[in-house]
Amino acid sequence: MNKNPFLFGPIVSGDAFYDRVEIEHQLFRAVGSGQNVLLYAPRRYGKSSLVARVVESLRREGRACLYFDMMKVNSLEHFLQSYASAALALKSRTSRSLGALGKFFRGLRPKITIGDQGEPSLSLDFSSPPDTRTLEDVLSLPESLGSPEKRVVVVFDEFQEIGRLSSTLPLERIFRSVIQQQRNVNYIYLGSKTHLLKRMFCDAARPFYQSALVIEMEKPPRDESVAFLRRRFELAGVNVDSGAIESIVDGSENIPYYLQALGYEVCEVAEYSGKDDIGAAEVTEALARCVRRMSGVFETAIEPLSANQRIVLAALAIEPTPRFDEAYRRQHGLPTYTSIMSALKVLEATGLVMSVRKERRVANPFFAAWLREPAFTAS
Ligand SMILES: Nc1ncnc2c1ncn2[C@@H]1O[C@H](COP(=O)(O)OP(=O)(O)OP(=O)(O)O)[C@@H](O)[C@H]1O
Ligand SMILES: [Mg+2]
Repeated sequence: MNKNPFLFGPIVSGDAFYDRVEIEHQLFRAVGSGQNVLLYAPRRYGKSSLVARVVESLRREGRACLYFDMMKVNSLEHFLQSYASAALALKSRTSRSLGALGKFFRGLRPKITIGDQGEPSLSLDFSSPPDTRTLEDVLSLPESLGSPEKRVVVVFDEFQEIGRLSSTLPLERIFRSVIQQQRNVNYIYLGSKTHLLKRMFCDAARPFYQSALVIEMEKPPRDESVAFLRRRFELAGVNVDSGAIESIVDGSENIPYYLQALGYEVCEVAEYSGKDDIGAAEVTEALARCVRRMSGVFETAIEPLSANQRIVLAALAIEPTPRFDEAYRRQHGLPTYTSIMSALKVLEATGLVMSVRKERRVANPFFAAWLREPAFTAS
């Protein structure tokens, strides 16, 4: 067999990336016309890969782009240092002088060190804990690097995480008031905690209310997923029949990450079994291998859950639902409606359960398969 062509985990590009033409076009046009955008989708749908592609096209057009992952910052101080460094790194892609940037540092007392490779790195000296003025100054840095004709593009991935950075400063309000005054920057906000993001952008009481074009990213069209799997198996030199391809789309619930993970495992099954023709039985085996591989992670995930949380999770693994009416509750031996709601709050906050078009379901299809496994084997 040729090398395994499936890739899951990193941001994908080139021929490892498929479909998304329509949403990519929508995003590209919105950013091109100066519109700020919120793009949200549950985990593993391919948000970061899509935006990386759009950013790549914008860079080719000469736009300076800054990608910033809020998940990676653990305090406001950390954010300020990293964001200011990112702006400095971006400066080299623009024609602006260091002086233009310096003007925006006002009271920040930046210290710039030149590394062995000639790369500048930056540390800021500011009062601790940082105050509003410091945050405003740092958020203003990209503004000094762009122009209304050539706006800088800032991508904030997992944007909902700003809520975690400070318990004293009203961060959402400060971010919003700085951003709305800017004319030289375009923002793309990304995130997977869909319930938090929707509240942030669609609740009239919140600062970001109606401040961006909201785009919900859906799963790829099923036929595109099928075509992608065909192309990749052909590249691998593995013959997979149509029924088996459909089973891969079903087993992964057509979520790109799991589709690639299951495709990968099918190739591995073909490799070790030495079979040329792959059917539904081999896909079942590959799915079981994916589930087995992750069972340690699943055990750790359910360990801290209460009895009610586990019961709700198990019910959703068997039957996702938009409502927990009496029939559903009876069928799955569930507690009262109020207890279910408080269990769901935790399950959604930890990302184990997601809500798609109001339907609650277990976010990871391999986890759902693991939860559905019988508690015993008898022979
Ligand atoms: N358009 C695509 N074509 C093929 N595979 C894709 C595509 N988008 C995503 N994937 C698969 O999903 C994986 C995760 O993609 P990505 O990191 O872009 O998703 P995400 O929605 O940002 O995930 P997270 O919620 O974890 O941040 C990739 O490594 C790849 O295997
Ligand atoms: Mg991502």
